Formats: sequence, structure tokens, C-alpha cells
Amino acid sequence: MSGTQQPRLAVLVPGGSGQLGRALLDAGADEGDRIRVRAPGSDELDLTRPGAVVEALADLAAGAREAGRLPVVVNAAAYTDVDAAEDDEDRAFAVNVDGPRVLAAVCSSRRVPLVHVSTDYVFGGDADRAAVGPYGPDDPLRPRTAYGRTKAAGEDAVLGSGAAAWIVRTAWLYGGGDTDFVATMARLEAERDTVSVVDDQTGSPTYAPDLARGLLELAGRVAAGDGPARSVLHCVNTGTATWYDLARAVFTGLGADPDRVRPCG
Ligand SMILES: NC(=O)c1ccc[n+]([C@@H]2O[C@H](COP(=O)([O-])OP(=O)(O)OC[C@H]3O[C@@H](n4cnc5c(N)ncnc54)[C@H](OP(=O)(O)O)[C@@H]3O)[C@@H](O)[C@H]2O)c1
Repeated sequence: MSGTQQPRLAVLVPGGSGQLGRALLDAGADEGDRIRVRAPGSDELDLTRPGAVVEALADLAAGAREAGRLPVVVNAAAYTDVDAAEDDEDRAFAVNVDGPRVLAAVCSSRRVPLVHVSTDYVFGGDADRAAVGPYGPDDPLRPRTAYGRTKAAGEDAVLGSGAAAWIVRTAWLYGGGDTDFVATMARLEAERDTVSVVDDQTGSPTYAPDLARGLLELAGRVAAGDGPARSVLHCVNTGTATWYDLARAVFTGLGADPDRVRPCG
């Protein structure tokens, strides 16, 4: 899109206190006055409380109308603790399925488009996949974890809502907090002589600020009615790595010896 065609946006980002939510807030600020991002945390906008969702969308629509902006929602809220979800799938379902279902329904009734973020965990992650190449948006879903099941069901709920809704699946996010994998490896480099890191999973590490910029560009297109009403996209940084490769890259980037990272299965 050329600069003159870019719409002025009012963007609501549920999950604003999370890694991606904060990156979206920063990416919006980088756009100056063109994009206004409101990014409430779950304390302010809890997607499992339908009344709060209705109220937030009413505020978004009214504020956008008054300011002459196009309203759009980018949903960065999710229950993301993969291990904890195995023990509390009901809670993960409430946040990852019921919440997005309500959000999409209210978006639909207000005619506000929705960009909903999802994950590679909706796929099976089969060992022979590397030979076939990356998953495509139309590949069959075969989640193997509670988290993946809830995220897959959340996609269905959003796509079945009638809202103008885009699903954006991403993977291996880093660069938005103190606890992501890259930050953890940087901390361990300072604390330990060696670290053991699994070498049997391959993915596309994705810098959260890059994804945030792409999501806001997509939000602008969706808000302007540019493209189909509903679609599923994959959005990651280019290249692939194992967690072991990524840890070595972190050590190298810090000027440390990458051989202090040991592969494990
Ligand atoms: N991190 C990754 O590697 C990765 C990879 C692929 C896809 N994704 C997807 O990317 C999106 C963003 O993930 P992230 O890494 O930014 O996760 P995150 O850092 O864990 O942030 C999740 C956000 O969701 C909020 N949240 C939790 N329950 C909520 C509720 N009931 N209502 C409203 N907000 C709620 C959290 O707020 P509180 O902290 O206040 O609870 C937090 O702000 C998610 O859809 C995730 O599935 C992430």
C-alpha cells in the first residue's frame, strides 16, 4: 500500500500485556498518529467476561467513529502455558475458544474486522515433516497438546462467527519479554558454563516486533475491506532452526563460545 492510501486505524489489542501485545503497542506508536492502539491486559479486558467484551467493542466503535478512524481488533490474548494447559484444559478452553468466540460474535454484530493470532501447535509436528517442507494454511489440523486443541477450536469458533476474520498462525516468538527463549538463553549464558538444549524440534523463530508490524499492516488491509472477508495465513520470519541452533545463535550474538551449548534429544 502506498503512504497516501493507508487508512487511519483504531486498533483494540486484547492481551495487551503479553509479549505480542506489547510489541503491537510499540509498532502502533512507531506509526505516529496514523494508528492508535489500545492494548488492555486481562485485568482490564478479560475475554471470558462477555460483558467486558461488549463494552470494549462499543468503546472501540464509538471512539473510531468520532476520530474518523477504521476500527479493527487484533487478538493477542491467549492461555499460552503449554504445560499447564495439560492439567487445566477447561481454563485454556475458556480463554482460547470461548473468549475468541464471544469476541468474534461481537465483532460481527458491530461489523468490526478481527485478526486472530494462532499457532503452529494446531499441527501434528510429525518427525518426517522436515522432508516435506513447512506447513501450509490448508494443511489438516492435528493438534497433539491441550494447548493446540484449544487453539485449533478457537480458530473454528472465529471462522464460524460470521465476522470478517483473519487467522494468523505464527511460531516460536521471541523479542518481547524477559522470559522468552532468547532471553532465557542469554540469562543462562551468564549463569552457567554449559547448557543442554533439545535438538529434535525444528521451527521458524519469529521476532515479535516483526510480526507486530505485519499484523498492523494486515489489520489496515482488513479494515479497509481489501481482500477476502475470511482467511488463514502463516506468518513467521524466514529460515528454520532447532532450539539448539537458536541457543547457539544467542551465545554467538553475545560473543560467547557456542560450543558451550550441548545438544540433547
Ligand atoms: N509465544 C510464542 O512462542 C507463540 C508462538 C505461536 C503463537 N503464539 C500465539 O501468539 C499470541 C500471543 O502470544 P504471546 O506470546 O504474546 O503470549 P503471552 O505473552 O502469554 O501473552 C498472552 C496474553 O493474553 C492475556 N490473557 C490471558 N488470559 C486472558 C483472558 N482471559 N482475557 C484477556 N487476556 C488474557 C495475558 O494477560 P495476563 O498476563 O494478564 O494473564 C497476556 O497479556 C497467542 O495467540 C499465542 O497463542 C505465541
